[in-house]
Parts: sequence; C-alpha cells; structure tokens
Amino acid sequence: MPHAKIAGTGMYVPEHVVTNFDLQKYMDTSDDWIRERTGIQERRFAGRDTETTTTMAVEASKTAIERAGITPQDIDFIVFATLSPDYYFPGCGVLLQRAMKMREIGALDVRNQCSGFVYAISVADQFIRSGMYKNILVVGSEKHSFGLDFSTRGRSVSVIFGDGAGAVVLQPTEEEDRGILSTHLHSDGESAESLAMYNPGTHANHWVQQPVADFNPAEIGDMFMSHSMIDKAQNFPYMDGPAVFKKAIVKFPEVIMEALDANGLKPGDIDMLIPHQANLRIAQFVQQKLGLSDDKVYNNIQKYGNTTAASIPIALCEAWEAGKIKPADLVCLASFGSGFTWGSALLRW
Ligand code: UT7
Repeated sequence: MPHAKIAGTGMYVPEHVVTNFDLQKYMDTSDDWIRERTGIQERRFAGRDTETTTTMAVEASKTAIERAGITPQDIDFIVFATLSPDYYFPGCGVLLQRAMKMREIGALDVRNQCSGFVYAISVADQFIRSGMYKNILVVGSEKHSFGLDFSTRGRSVSVIFGDGAGAVVLQPTEEEDRGILSTHLHSDGESAESLAMYNPGTHANHWVQQPVADFNPAEIGDMFMSHSMIDKAQNFPYMDGPAVFKKAIVKFPEVIMEALDANGLKPGDIDMLIPHQANLRIAQFVQQKLGLSDDKVYNNIQKYGNTTAASIPIALCEAWEAGKIKPADLVCLASFGSGFTWGSALLRW
C-alpha cells in the first residue's frame, strides 16, 4: 500500500528581526526574563502592508515544490494550517491556490494551532494512502505580529510568538520502510479556554466564565466583535502559561512514545526529533525524559520564537538544509498546544 514521503521542504521567514531588547521599548520586560523562561533571543515580524500569512506561505511553498521536482500545476491538493489567517473566512488555502495559479484543486484549512502541521501531515498522508492524490502541498504559516498585545498587559504572550512559514510536498512511495510510518492525533477540550483567542467568536459568553488575569471574560458582550471588546483589549489571545507548560511536558513524551511503540522502536532509534517550538525549556525537558543527546533534537526557537503551525516545517526544513537529516534517518515530529491538541508523526527520511 502506498503511503506518503516528504519529497521537498521549504521555509520563509520575514527579514525584519525583532530582538528581546526591541520589545523592551514597548513593555516592561527584559532580555534576561525572555531568554531564561523561553530560550527566545529574537523573532521575525512580517511587513505590515507587504506580507500576509498567505504570501509567506507562497514563498515557502515555491521552494518545497521546486525541491520536489514538480510545478505548482502538479499539486493535487492543499492542506493549510494556521491560526492567523488573512481573513476570518475564507481560509488561506484558497488564497494560496489563487496566488500560485494552481489548478481548481481542493484546499483544506486546518485549525489546530500548534498541532496544526502534524494534523495536516496526517490528513495528507491518509489521502495518499487511499490513492486519492499524488502531490499534496502541506503548509503551516503564521503572521502573529498583527494580533498581539505589545503593552505590558500582554507581555506573557506577546514575547513568545513570531512570524514565518514552512511547507512540504508529500508524494506516494511504495518503499515500506521509508516515508511516514504513522501519525498519532489527540485532543482534550477540558482546557480549551487555557490558550485561546475568544473574540471574534459566537460564544456570547457561553463557555468563557472563569476569571482570567486582567482579561475579564464576564465583561465580554454577546456580540461577535464590539468596540468595547477592543477598548478592553479582549481581542487578544489569552494563555495560562504555567497550565499549558505542565500539560505539555506530559503529553509531548507520551505521544512520541506512542509513535515509537506503534512501530516497535525505542527513543534511542530516533535520529532527529523536531518538537513544536513552544518553549526551549519544554523541548529540553522532553529531550531529557527520552534520554536523547543534543544532536538528536532540533531547536530554532532562539531565532524565530514560537511560530505555531509553522514551527515544525520551518525547523524540519532548516535541519534538512543544514545536513542534520540524512536519507534513512528516523525523524519524529511532535506537537502540543491550544485545544489542547497534540500529536506526533514518525517518518523514515
Ligand atoms: O505553543 C503554544 C503552547 N504554549 C506553550 O507551550 C507555552 C507554555 N508556557 C510557557 O512557556 C511559560 O509558562 C511562559 C514562558 C509563557 C511563562 O513562563 P512562566 O515561568 O510560567 O512565568 P509565569 O507566567 O508564571 O510568570 C512569572 C512572572 C509573573 O510575575 P509575578 O506574578 O511572579 O510577579 C509575570 O507577571 O513573570 C511575569 N512575566 C513577565 N516578566 C517579564 C510574565 N511575562 C513577562 C515578561 N517579562 N514578558
């Protein structure tokens, strides 16, 4: 039975570098605090009027498609993961199809935040296993810089995130021990409000009852988006960082072990672990728990911050370009984030 292999990877990050020192100009924070708690030194911000989630995706996709040895007209299907779409609707998939002048192919948008890329890869793999498509473009792209609170009020969230895009082309392979071996997806909506952007939305305060920091959900009106929400800064993401951290360090190792067990493999068999770049401390905890050496885990959050759905394809592309992923290497992708959702993909390069 055919399954998917990664035939090409691409990435794009905006030119504009924003250091921790730059953020100090807008809020009460410090380079020391950000480095110590997250490992982040700098991130990239997209051009205000010149770049969108879709335009960054176009750049990453061009490289991935070229490296796969095909053209945009050969793509049969798009799976696009983002939490920061150009429009509330339609999703970025169709904008990418238009921008790259692709055929009238299907375009699916995935809304699984930090786990978006792993979910997207899994969906694409199933389409290839079923024989429905042959060249699938899978993209993760985010323009976070447009939707964050850069005052001191929003500092626990805004210092973490950055902009960028990553893409891969999946194609079928018959080689049993190559390509995507398995994918594993999970969710637990109990803590859906622990990492969320409530507005704009249709909840009319239905779900959001618990008091959170200086963001008072009880004051949220019953409108989709109102002037008062904006005045009260209720149009920004909320994150209970410590709660997310605690769950992440349990679920990351669990879902990686699930993938290894499903394939009769052990942590020592992993050649390269690419964790979602949420926080360097989380990645280091996972590394230690699995007993992996430094050269078996790829991190680049130091340079790009957390780029949510884009973080895994950017890291994958960078690791491959640096020669850190070689043919036949066992590569594990793993993610955890808002939802909560988490997942893993195990592949033989
Ligand atoms: O990719 C999506 C998934 N997200 C994650 O996995 C994130 C998981 N969580 C985390 O990475 C960490 O919880 C954070 C990095 C977000 C926060 O680190 P923390 O060690 O959990 O800090 P905290 O939220 O407990 O805050 C500690 C202190 C607070 O001050 P007090 O109350 O102790 O006086 C905060 O107000 O640090 C303060 N603080 C800051 N100080 C300087 C929060 N943000 C900042 C900041 N600069 N940017």
